[in-house]
Amino acid sequence: MRSEQRADAVVFWAPAKVNLFLEILGKRPDGYHELETLMVTVSLHDELEFKEESSGSIQLTCDDRELSTGPENLIHKAAELLRRRTGCARGARIGLTKRIPMAAGLAGGSSDAAATLAGLNRLWDLGLPPADLMVLGAELGSDVPFFFAGPAAWCTGRGEIITPLIPGTALDLVLICPPQGLSTAAVFRAVRVPERPVSGDAVRRAFVAGDVAELGRSLHNRLQAPAETLCPAVSEVRRRVEALAPAGHQMSGSGTSYFALCRGPDEARRIATALSHGWDEEVRPRVSLVTGCLEGATD
Ligand code: C5P
Repeated sequence: MRSEQRADAVVFWAPAKVNLFLEILGKRPDGYHELETLMVTVSLHDELEFKEESSGSIQLTCDDRELSTGPENLIHKAAELLRRRTGCARGARIGLTKRIPMAAGLAGGSSDAAATLAGLNRLWDLGLPPADLMVLGAELGSDVPFFFAGPAAWCTGRGEIITPLIPGTALDLVLICPPQGLSTAAVFRAVRVPERPVSGDAVRRAFVAGDVAELGRSLHNRLQAPAETLCPAVSEVRRRVEALAPAGHQMSGSGTSYFALCRGPDEARRIATALSHGWDEEVRPRVSLVTGCLEGATD
C-alpha cells in the first residue's frame, strides 16, 4: 500500500483488486465458502487522508454521496476495532476520495478498511506489525488481509490465508464496470460447489512466469455463471469482450466488474476504444485502462 506523510496528515492509496482465478472447494459450517483465489492489485485507487481529531471521535467524509459514511461503513468498523484492541482513545478525521466502483467485485470497501488499519496505526503511533493488522483485517472481511500482502497473492480458506506471489510481469488490463452492482452474499448463495474443482496450478505457473498467453488461457472464476444469471449485463459484457479476442477475459470476484487481459498496452487501448461505444444507456459500462501488479513485477 503506497502512503505519504504530509504536514498534518497521513495519506494512503487503497488499490482495487481483480481475481485471475477463483474456485470454490466447499461450503463450511459457518456459512462461508472454502476457496482458492489468485488476487492482484490494480492501478485504480481510492485515496484516504487521516488527521488527528482532538475530540476523540471518528469522523468520516466522502466525495461520493452514494456511499454511507455512518457506523456501518467498513472504515468506521476498522477504526473502532483498532481502538478496541489497542485501548487507544485518540480520534481521527478520515477523508475518502472514492474512485473504485462499489458492489463490483473489486474489493474497494475491503481495501479502504485495510488502508484505515494501516493509516491509523501510523497516525496514532501504535506500532502494530503487518501480521497483526492482517489478523484484525480478517475480522472485517475475507478480502481485507490480502491488501497487506499485495501486489499478488494466492489466497485460501475463506480468502484470508495469504501466500504472496511475485508476478512475472505487470499486466495490461481493460476494466469494464457495468452500472449494476451485485451483492457478494447473493452471488455466493447462488453458486454450486463443483464436484471436481479446477486446479490453480496452471494459472499460478503462468502468472509467476509472466506468460500472458498461458495466463489468459488459465483464467477461471466459479462465481461468474451465477453472477451472469443474477445480472444479464455481465453476459452482455462477456459477449462484447470475447469478440475482441484479448489474451483472456473474465469477471472479477463476485462481479459485476469484468476485465480483459491484453498482450500489451496497444491491444489494451484498442480494446478499450472498441468498448467505449455501442451500448444501450441502461447497460453502458465504465471502461478504463489499468495495470495489474505495477509495483512488484519482475520485468
Ligand atoms: O467476508 P466478507 O464479509 O467480505 O463476505 C461477504 C459475504 O460473502 C459473506 O457474508 C458470505 O455470504 C460470502 N462469502 C462466502 N465465502 C467466502 C467469502 C465470502 O460465502 N469465502
